[in-house]
Amino acid sequence: MKKLFIETYGCQMNFADSEVVASILKEMYALTKEIQEADLILINTCSIRDKAEQRIHKRLKELEAYKRKNRHLQVGLLGCMAERMKEELLETEPVLDFIAGPDAYRSLPQLIAESQKGKTSFNVLLSEEETYDNIMPVRYDANGVSAFVSIMRGCNNFCAYCVVPYTRGRERSRSPKTILGEIEDLLKNNYKEVTLLGQNVNSYYWKEKGQEVSFAKLMAMVAEMSPELRVRFATSHPKDISDELIETMARYDNICKCIHLPVQSGSNEMLQKMRRVYTRESYLERVRKIKEVLPDCALTTDIIVGFCGETLENHQDTLSIMREVGYEYAYMFKYSERGGTLASKRYPDDIPDEEKTRRLEEVIALQGELSMASNRRDVGKTFRVLVEGTSKRSEDQLFGRNSQNKVIIFPRGEHRVGEYVDVMIFDILGMTRWLRFCGRMARSRFGRNRFGRGCGSGVRARLTK
Ligand code: SAH
Ligand code: SF4
Ligand code: F3S
Repeated sequence: MKKLFIETYGCQMNFADSEVVASILKEMYALTKEIQEADLILINTCSIRDKAEQRIHKRLKELEAYKRKNRHLQVGLLGCMAERMKEELLETEPVLDFIAGPDAYRSLPQLIAESQKGKTSFNVLLSEEETYDNIMPVRYDANGVSAFVSIMRGCNNFCAYCVVPYTRGRERSRSPKTILGEIEDLLKNNYKEVTLLGQNVNSYYWKEKGQEVSFAKLMAMVAEMSPELRVRFATSHPKDISDELIETMARYDNICKCIHLPVQSGSNEMLQKMRRVYTRESYLERVRKIKEVLPDCALTTDIIVGFCGETLENHQDTLSIMREVGYEYAYMFKYSERGGTLASKRYPDDIPDEEKTRRLEEVIALQGELSMASNRRDVGKTFRVLVEGTSKRSEDQLFGRNSQNKVIIFPRGEHRVGEYVDVMIFDILGMTRWLRFCGRMARSRFGRNRFGRGCGSGVRARLTK
């Protein structure tokens, strides 16, 4: 059988999509981890910021060398950049044989066949229905413990800075039946954790034969499948994280106590310009509700610095909301103007890059302090950890995450990957290492490497027994 190499950039949804693509092509291609032996290379791309796209242009240049060595090699481009730039890419990137947008993956076999006949082919049609409902993803890069499950696609929010509604199209939910079927299959294969994915999971909604399923209801259905299964979700939009969801999280021990609640900015002026539809006050009200009902819940966030017209005072508001909430972790970005978005049409990108960098460094340093403080508070506490793998530093150490998504390193003892282990925290990573780690995570989120599931922070623990 011919060999397929897939390289994925961007968010978790793109990684989940690559698993769908591997499944669609599984009768035609076997997956390989060695790019040199590939007959087909697929690059699944991200457009979220300019840097993400520049990296991909650079990568496509590198791929030209592989094509010179192997005349039969085909290269296809998938994902958000395909959608944003469409046919133009086929002209500017001669290495490409075909391109397919995020809703066009079922047509990949035809696109490949056409391009084999020498035609450059593309399909970037967005769909209002496509959810790849009945396709069982091939988990080619998984750790065998934890998997992502797409529950919806697209986004209707049109935040002023964001390209996603244009690249992913309208919001649509996947049927609960196929979601539960996919998770059933994961359970049979000994998976212990699922993360339900969507750009805005709170607006998950399904109606069939008079029965309505909200996101909270779906979470409860998944949590009830097995007490041994942990359930996570990403991402929640602060404008509609419901009491029903917060209360459902409290009812089930196996729903992880961690909410990613992107704030973007602490300034009402900026939030309004960004079209986030909540205010600083209403955001903090939601945080208060979460802390009241779920006292152990970790909160993580996304922050954009240097959005159009951001004053120093607006920036201070972001620093102060970070302190007020006390996030465990944050992904932090400099604003990057994206063509076609409301912000690009209406507001000049007027904060100089050096100033954006300075503000970014300030939020990264503050987040370092907040994460350290959270780690310090955990010393002496016991947590149940799901073991994910062997620590990079030593074979004798395992690592896993607690319910709050914090990464914990501990002695192997008799334990194995996929088990739950109770551990007690006794040490935390030093500030310098932690800051370096924060910077790297912030950079890599939409970079080349898989950034995982919103990494918590590093602490060391000993076994309780
Ligand atoms: N749907 C999710 C976010 C998806 S994009 C949500 O609304 O929470 C992930 C993050 O990338 C965003 O939260 C935002 O912080 C950042 N981002 C999006 N567009 C950006 C841009 N143009 N410049 C810089 N950061 C951006
Ligand atoms: Fe982008 Fe806003 Fe949609 Fe998130 S909710 S994907 S930031 S438009
Ligand atoms: Fe994800 Fe990047 Fe597209 S963040 S939705 S791959 S623009």
